[in-house]
Amino acid sequence: MDYLEIEGGSPLCGEVRIQGSKNAVLPILSAALLNPGITVIDNCPDISDVKAMLEILKGYGCRTHREGDSLVLNAEHLHSGRAPEDYAGVMRSSIMLLGSLLARLGEAFLPYPGGCVIGERPIDLHLTALRKMGARLREEPEGLKAVCARPQGADIYLPFPSVGATENVILLAVRAEGDTLLQNAAREPEIVELCRFLNCMGAKIKGAGTSVIRIRGVKTLHEIRYRIMPDRIVAGTYMFLAAAAGGKILLRDVPFEQLEAVRHILKGMGIRQERSGKSLLLWCPARSRGEIQVCTSPYPGFPTDLQSPLTAALCLADGESMIEERIFEARFKVVKELQKMGADIRVDGSRACIRGVERLKGAFLEAEELRGGAALCVAAAAAEGTSRIYQYHYIARGYENIIRDLKDLGVVVHCF
Ligand code: EPZ
Repeated sequence: MDYLEIEGGSPLCGEVRIQGSKNAVLPILSAALLNPGITVIDNCPDISDVKAMLEILKGYGCRTHREGDSLVLNAEHLHSGRAPEDYAGVMRSSIMLLGSLLARLGEAFLPYPGGCVIGERPIDLHLTALRKMGARLREEPEGLKAVCARPQGADIYLPFPSVGATENVILLAVRAEGDTLLQNAAREPEIVELCRFLNCMGAKIKGAGTSVIRIRGVKTLHEIRYRIMPDRIVAGTYMFLAAAAGGKILLRDVPFEQLEAVRHILKGMGIRQERSGKSLLLWCPARSRGEIQVCTSPYPGFPTDLQSPLTAALCLADGESMIEERIFEARFKVVKELQKMGADIRVDGSRACIRGVERLKGAFLEAEELRGGAALCVAAAAAEGTSRIYQYHYIARGYENIIRDLKDLGVVVHCF
């Protein structure tokens, strides 16, 4: 069974360049299907979620190959097909193909995206919105059958600013007849990046990054080469790694303007931060300050994807903190693993109260999902003694090379 072994307890020292953004590149891979030609995507992270998405795209006739950190896609000859079950069923992001396949082919068949340990992950908001644009969707036993011969622009209000539903509406609306007004849209930086990518292809989208997005349908979208922005969640993970283990690290290629909420928390924890161009120097005391109160919320609030790494860092902070998880209904699964290391955490529904302890001790741990697995790396690097993290392949879904990055930051880590 694969596991990481981490010798914790030493302060960090080193530097890392932040990889390209997973949650930006996945919808952009879907958007590349809208161009019946070549698309080149630079700074594309080499992560298993990207590999899975590429296998799914191949199921519809898209040809792809990697050249270093660039992906080359050729979507000239697409056909309606079936996403390979063993990929699309397990990866939530496959639902983002719905909008672009309907826009390009007028039909799509997709296995239901798996739920996962962090929550049910329904797709009702996607389906309701796409129906308003003329899509006919039939839920069959083995998946979702969708048809939409002539997508129409529509006025759509999302009851919740769902990131994926916002992306699906945009992907269909860019090729629809007429205008689409999307209200209560998600404001995440990944939405802005998708709209910037599509506008570079010839789309006409305004308001990305606000809760009101206007899309005017166009007849064609053309070839482009595009560089993916850095991953704010990977950057935030390493910031909390430093806050937990102490020491001094330099992060390069940091998306500063996307991390205000995170940097505010770090300041409250007593972490000194010095910006120099696109780099961030972090000085972290041996023990950070606790007494932190935070709720996860849609952007620009504190991101749910950094809730677990923050929880791990607060386990060693001086004082009692409280985190409320307001986005996903089951995102405290990692707590039971942290408790094996001596963490003092009480979970009550959507709230976790964390009383910082002087030290955590190494333990044998099991990752169950991506960000929880990253949080275990944070705790293990700060704990005294040896920890093992089993099922660490979950971490590879979103972190290009967590072993390389941990080593470059001064953590003693081996994989077996
Ligand atoms: C995206 O997921 C991200 N994934 C998630 O990152 C991130 O946690 C999430 O946005 C919130 O920021 C990608 O971008 C690939 P949502 P998505 O639709 O689009 C409910 C990571 O670790 N909901 O904004 O699935 C849903 O159940 C991953 O990188 C409905 O009820 O998120 C959840 O409670 C994890 N009905 C909330 O909305 C729907 O139709 C947020 O979901 C859709 C969503």
